[in-house]
Amino acid sequence: MSDSNGPRTLPTLEALVTLCKRRGFIFQSSEIYGGYAGFFDYGPLGSELKRNIKDAWWKAMVHEREEIVGLDSTIIMHPEIWKASGHVEGFNDPMVDCRESKKRYRADQLFFAPVRVDGETIGYVSVEESGTMQAEAEEKAAELKRKQAVQGTLEPLELRDYTEAEPEEYERIPSPATGKPGSLTAPRQFNLMFETRVGPLADASGVSYLRPETAQGIFQNFKNVVDTGRVKIPFGIAQMGKAFRNEITPRNFIFRSREFEQMEVEYFIDPDDETWPRVYREWIDTCKAWLTRIGIPADMIGEDVHPPEKLSHYSKGTTDLTFTFPFGTQELWGIACRGQFDLSQHQKHSGKSMEFFDEARKEKYIPHVVEPSLGVDRTVLAVLTAAYCEDEIPNDKGKPEKRVLLKFHPRVAPFKVAVFPLLKNKPELVESARTLYQELQRKWNVAWDVSGAIGRRYRRQDEIGTPYCVTVDFDTVEKDQAVTIRDRDTTEQVRIPLKEVAAWLSERIEA
Ligand code: GAP
Repeated sequence: MSDSNGPRTLPTLEALVTLCKRRGFIFQSSEIYGGYAGFFDYGPLGSELKRNIKDAWWKAMVHEREEIVGLDSTIIMHPEIWKASGHVEGFNDPMVDCRESKKRYRADQLFFAPVRVDGETIGYVSVEESGTMQAEAEEKAAELKRKQAVQGTLEPLELRDYTEAEPEEYERIPSPATGKPGSLTAPRQFNLMFETRVGPLADASGVSYLRPETAQGIFQNFKNVVDTGRVKIPFGIAQMGKAFRNEITPRNFIFRSREFEQMEVEYFIDPDDETWPRVYREWIDTCKAWLTRIGIPADMIGEDVHPPEKLSHYSKGTTDLTFTFPFGTQELWGIACRGQFDLSQHQKHSGKSMEFFDEARKEKYIPHVVEPSLGVDRTVLAVLTAAYCEDEIPNDKGKPEKRVLLKFHPRVAPFKVAVFPLLKNKPELVESARTLYQELQRKWNVAWDVSGAIGRRYRRQDEIGTPYCVTVDFDTVEKDQAVTIRDRDTTEQVRIPLKEVAAWLSERIEA
């Protein structure tokens, strides 16, 4: 959130969720049946916002790049693909159950610490991962000491996640749900892929999966694209589409859900040792530049470089672009150097060659791949967070009034412009405004509003992030054939001849 005149303060997640629901951006899925955890629907405005983000990505990554081509593969693919990719074996999160409350936790998001007073352990505390978990745990530790009426000094708490617990500690760590020890299970691996069945047989032969990433659809089509696309190394294949993960603890609104969309590029490069570091850096910069193109301020984006000991055995480097979400700084976009791993695995499992014949070098090789992988929904949340703003402007009577606005970049705003006749019961105003509305509609998604005072109509558009409002008034039809255009962010108004409106807007919206 950026206040009009001051430093940035972040909106709360609650403020965003409420606005999204109230104005038709995002709804909890299956709400009339009590909701369904980890699934969200995009309403009339949310679907426009999401589409604009996806269009901007496709334009920048495919249409504006000579060496990147698009692909649209299926969600359900041959199950062997997920064995080759390692997902059947290893796409797991550690899970813990509370036997009493039946609540389920991700072990790496459940933190605990022994509570020590003057060197003696008097019990354990546990908390769920959050930005305030240390303070929460300290409060619980003080409470435990009070309850046990122990004298002495509490030692500083050293929180560890539950995957680091020793087996003899499991019985002593309280469940965050009940506050009592003894009900948490040992962590066990839980595969995140959604299983389904293909074909009429109910036995194991029909088991298949909903894709947990779009990337494998690209790798399994590598040969097809090479054989038909006249591509030369380096080249990329881009894909956007649904991905599904049976997350143990979906949370933070659309940040971590069970059904989401990804936008991924697999960028195939020379396998020598010099190429990947340069391409890796170029992709990090390209991704950052794209985020600013859709209105995310550079100071909200960070780089989290994975330390070598945390990389998969085949990975040469991974950097996450992070974003300052209302609940903390978290991964938005992962840029990974995956070496030859994926193509080699598919070559091994399918028995088909994944080698590329390099005409220039007269040589065959399996290329290396650099993969920028971005979640659409996380980007929507980042765009909403960056755009949310509260300020005060004078109301119709000149009194200062609080206003909520979404300062979307015009590129992603659901409506680019709104058109109003000053009064709805004056046919000449309505007719002139309607003509302009229809002209602008040919280029953009345009809002039309005839009800309420003009100030109220402006406020409604501010709240959904429409950058410009055009008002047709009596002067338009009786005197000057001009209209008033009001700017969302500054609230300034200018008078522009009717016939110049489209060009005036075009200059600003498409800049
Ligand atoms: N092909 C690589 C891959 O899928 P990932 O880090 O697991 O890598 C890439 O996912 C991006 O997809 C993440 O940076 C995030 O933006 C998005 N993403 C992953 N899991 C998600 C979830 N459960 N809900 C929403 N977005 C998710």
